[in-house]
Amino acid sequence: MASREQFSSRTGFLMAAAGSAIGLGNVWGFPTQTAEHGGAAFVLVYLALAFCLAYPVLMAELVIGRHARANAFGALRGIARGVVGRRLGAAVGLYAVLISSLILSFYAIVAGWMLAFMLGAAADMAGLTGLSDWLQRFGPGRNVVFLLVFMGLTMAIVARGVSSGIERWSTRLMPALLVILVLLIGYVLSRGGAVEGLKVYLLPDFSRIGPGLVLNAMGQAFFSLSLGVGTMLIYGSYLSERENLPGIGAAVTLFDVSVAFLAGLLIIPAIYVAQRYGVTTVDASGALIAGPDLIFQVLPVLFDSMGGVGVPVAFAFFLLMSIASLTSSISMLEVPVALAAEETGASRGRATLGTGALIFAVSLGIVLNFEALFNGVVAFTTVYSQPLLGIMFCIFVGWIWHRNALLQELRRGQPDMAGTWFWRVWPFYVKFFCPVLILGTFLQSVVG
Ligand code: TRP
Repeated sequence: MASREQFSSRTGFLMAAAGSAIGLGNVWGFPTQTAEHGGAAFVLVYLALAFCLAYPVLMAELVIGRHARANAFGALRGIARGVVGRRLGAAVGLYAVLISSLILSFYAIVAGWMLAFMLGAAADMAGLTGLSDWLQRFGPGRNVVFLLVFMGLTMAIVARGVSSGIERWSTRLMPALLVILVLLIGYVLSRGGAVEGLKVYLLPDFSRIGPGLVLNAMGQAFFSLSLGVGTMLIYGSYLSERENLPGIGAAVTLFDVSVAFLAGLLIIPAIYVAQRYGVTTVDASGALIAGPDLIFQVLPVLFDSMGGVGVPVAFAFFLLMSIASLTSSISMLEVPVALAAEETGASRGRATLGTGALIFAVSLGIVLNFEALFNGVVAFTTVYSQPLLGIMFCIFVGWIWHRNALLQELRRGQPDMAGTWFWRVWPFYVKFFCPVLILGTFLQSVVG
């Protein structure tokens, strides 16, 4: 077998892993959840959970991946012992690959809308109103075309491989994303009404912290760090042995959380600016409009009412969303592609074409039966499967894998690992604390 590919540098890995983490979950999910759950109180709980719960699970995935140097299926089967353990590892690994593929199948639909709205703004600038109307109107034709375009882009990058596809494009796109985000924040904050939004975002109302809020914050943290489905595991499997895993994992978490925080500085003030412009931002029951309507109705009306600058601002905003989606979708596709290539011996190109086509077919089924299927697939994958798989990763690292093997893997990038606070706290933490906390929150979501 040809030698396994690797990321060419630490920065390359950071850009790819942060690119995976930073996506619609940050720019759309986090701000809208914050708006729905009373602003700053949600932000504080989210920050606490991201570092205390999501980061330890991220570390579990990275350690397993780098040690096994294999896809989720091969990796979990490989670290387990005994016939039963290996079967369990194989089953959990396959389930993770399936969920990653299913997440991509709904994510690509939404990402396609972002591309369509971006081109819609470009068509507006060129004076092509008819085209722009078609691009920004929800219809089966438009939805299918842009699903295909977005899946095509994702597959084109993944087919090129780890360093010349995933790493190269993440390294190009992530800095662009940051620049656009900062420019948009500067613009929105200079508009009337923005300060009101800033207050809601930054001044906590502690009376809002309750079980429901904690549950949502946990789901958001898991989704945002791409946890539970083997994405971070497979990226970890392409990471050099010299890298210090706890440090690099912390950097990815910090990067992800910072961009979510920045996105809040954009979206929440924008909602209040829109109010000033007379845009309806609350629904009939008085709650803030937060779902897809916020992105595809409230914000476009805001852009329209801005006059001449509105169209370029809209273009920049949907370009930001498209970039964020693409660097995430490539990480989701890499999970089944690595499995197909490593377990069947197929070339990367063939593996990408085969799995991409399969996922596209599932997406097509969802987009053409949108009302019936979309929300169900989102809930099955992100609300139920992701936390359960997160628990399984903790169990594999804490209970099934040898503690010595674990220490040895961590030592590779940091020889004095045994003396660090990380080694004193983390193994115990993922073994007991994380599974119990995730399970508790999960049960509450299923029962309540
Ligand atoms: N984290 C990305 C976001 O915030 C989405 C994502 C990429 C993801 N890979 C994933 C979510 C794996 C769940 C599982 O948009």
